[in-house]
Amino acid sequence: MTSDKLELIKRIREESLKSSEDIKDIKSLDAFRVKYLGRKSEISDLLSSLKDLSIEERRNLGPEAQKLKKDLEDIVAFKSKELGGESADMGIDITRPGKRQKLGALHPLTKICREMCDIFTGLNFSVVEGPEMETEHYNFDALNIPEDHPAREMWDTFWIKGKKGERKSRFLMRTHTSPVQIRYMETHEPPFQIVVPGRVFRYEAIDASHEINFYQLEGLMVGKDISLANFKFVIEEFFRRFFNERVEYRLRPSYFPFVEPGVEVDIKFRGKWLEVLGAGMVHPKVLEAAHLNPRDLTGFAFGMGVERMAMIKYNIPDIRMFYSNDLRFLKQF
Ligand code: PHE
Repeated sequence: MTSDKLELIKRIREESLKSSEDIKDIKSLDAFRVKYLGRKSEISDLLSSLKDLSIEERRNLGPEAQKLKKDLEDIVAFKSKELGGESADMGIDITRPGKRQKLGALHPLTKICREMCDIFTGLNFSVVEGPEMETEHYNFDALNIPEDHPAREMWDTFWIKGKKGERKSRFLMRTHTSPVQIRYMETHEPPFQIVVPGRVFRYEAIDASHEINFYQLEGLMVGKDISLANFKFVIEEFFRRFFNERVEYRLRPSYFPFVEPGVEVDIKFRGKWLEVLGAGMVHPKVLEAAHLNPRDLTGFAFGMGVERMAMIKYNIPDIRMFYSNDLRFLKQF
């Protein structure tokens, strides 16, 4: 009786070892498990028959049968892991709460610049850019601001240091985006209409409405018979789309060397007029500087302060908030 059963254990062991080599997928693993460890398996029958045996026999057979069962379970666990099955240790506890990934966000000025450009794109303007470091020629001379012209004092300038012995180099940090007018006109055939977002630099005292660098959005439209009426339509349409509500604004005669006539546009903000852009008809000398013929062509140009527009739209009292990197401010946009 006992030797029969020992014989059986030996047979199951050999047979299962052999057939374990044929386990190639989850399906064959399952079949193996059912056959050797299932409720109707031989080992299960054997184990449940132990209780009918004498103590002596049980002592002999019990450990052998238990060991076989344990070995079979090990085979199943090993194969399962090898196949990447369910019982494999995945090393991840999917029931644990996740870690929140903090996403960065665009700076409000970047967002507003893009929003502005989108509106102008919708009005058939193209978006172009120019260099932040400019030559004296593009920033001043070509814009009808020759050296020693008092108008240069309108823009306190950061000059780039010249070589030793030179009084100054011809390079500077652009004081406005207007030099891109010249760069674009030199290389493109009118008619065209563009906007130019970008950073500009001024050597000025900083206060609630002045920063040492800030952003402008330049506009330029050149073609046949372009007039100030076209400008008025474009800017009014822009305000309407940008603010989504009526804003009170006014055009006021003003002076810039590169336009004639020149105007300034103010918007009413917190009960006060805030200057938000300069504009006018492109001066004939500026067209000439870009090798265009002022007898055939006219155009308007404008330069808008991006921060100021944002301050009005979002009721921001101080321009310095854009540059102080305070997350409590930045997260509101
Ligand atoms: N470039 C001028 C400034 O920075 C603004 C301007 C642009 C005025 C175009 C007229 C036409 O102050």
